[in-house]
Amino acid sequence: MEKTLQNFGKQCESAQTLGRGIRVSAQRVLIAGVGGSAFAGDVLRTVAQEADVYVHRDYGLPRLGKDALVFAVSYSGNTEETLSALQQAIQEKRPVVGISSGGKLEELCLAHHTDHIKIPAGVQPRNALGYLIIPMLNVLEENGIVGKQELGGLRKELEDPAIRKEGKRIAALLEGKTPLIYSSERMACLSYGWKTRVNENAKVHAFAHRVPELNHNELVGYTKKIGNFYTLMIRDREDSTRVRKRFDATKKMIEELGGECCIVDTRGSGLLSRVFNTLHIGDWASYELALRYGVDPEPVHVIERFKKELGS
Ligand code: F6R
Repeated sequence: MEKTLQNFGKQCESAQTLGRGIRVSAQRVLIAGVGGSAFAGDVLRTVAQEADVYVHRDYGLPRLGKDALVFAVSYSGNTEETLSALQQAIQEKRPVVGISSGGKLEELCLAHHTDHIKIPAGVQPRNALGYLIIPMLNVLEENGIVGKQELGGLRKELEDPAIRKEGKRIAALLEGKTPLIYSSERMACLSYGWKTRVNENAKVHAFAHRVPELNHNELVGYTKKIGNFYTLMIRDREDSTRVRKRFDATKKMIEELGGECCIVDTRGSGLLSRVFNTLHIGDWASYELALRYGVDPEPVHVIERFKKELGS
């Protein structure tokens, strides 16, 4: 996985040629997928602020938004929830674009003359964020659904050694603790992305929540902490003044109640680069945590066993 993480900037650069020349017309966008593939939808919703973006993590499709452009996204192309969403989209003649590295999803698209974007295989879905999201952005951009995205300097920013260093520093804070990871509602993909990276790479539990909602429930749990937690709060410079004030007040209260907490600021120039860079810190933090726990960050045997179990 180390090589894949080192190549993440390169991946984002090479993905800029994918998903070109597809003609669609829609105002709303629905991403159907699960796990690492659905997560690309969460990131899209965060960075493509001018579009109406929904993420559907279940079988089939919601009745709402029948006019929305559906992206059926499955990195492997063999995930049953996403295949069922694609089947429904085809049946109901909804506008749909499939994205996968191959698998049944590609076969289904070819059989029904549905647009399909083939992305390179060979990495874990959670490490394929560039391949998964950039083609969607290209489709939306070329069809005037979102404005021009600034991807030019992304590779250089992602290759900054300070990102790995920051990940390593954070891994040391988290070792032996259960991470509670917070970000603002508008940047919810950051806390959720870090949580799932810790789950899948370091193979331990981690939980995510959002400001301000957590101030109305989770914060109370610090009164009688019955676990060994470490709270990480990911703050963005464009979070509103009130939300930023809540970060400081939340940290103060957690510490007064005897909890351990730190605030991590997003880094990077534009919104998209801040999201990508910060998720990449999470990649390295969870990778380094895996090494500290003596586990291989790459395979996710439990997910594979579970999928097999369902298939039998
Ligand atoms: C594994 C991972 C999982 C998968 C999920 C769906 O790295 O991130 O969350 O993404 O099991 O599989 P795909 O993405 O192939 O549809």
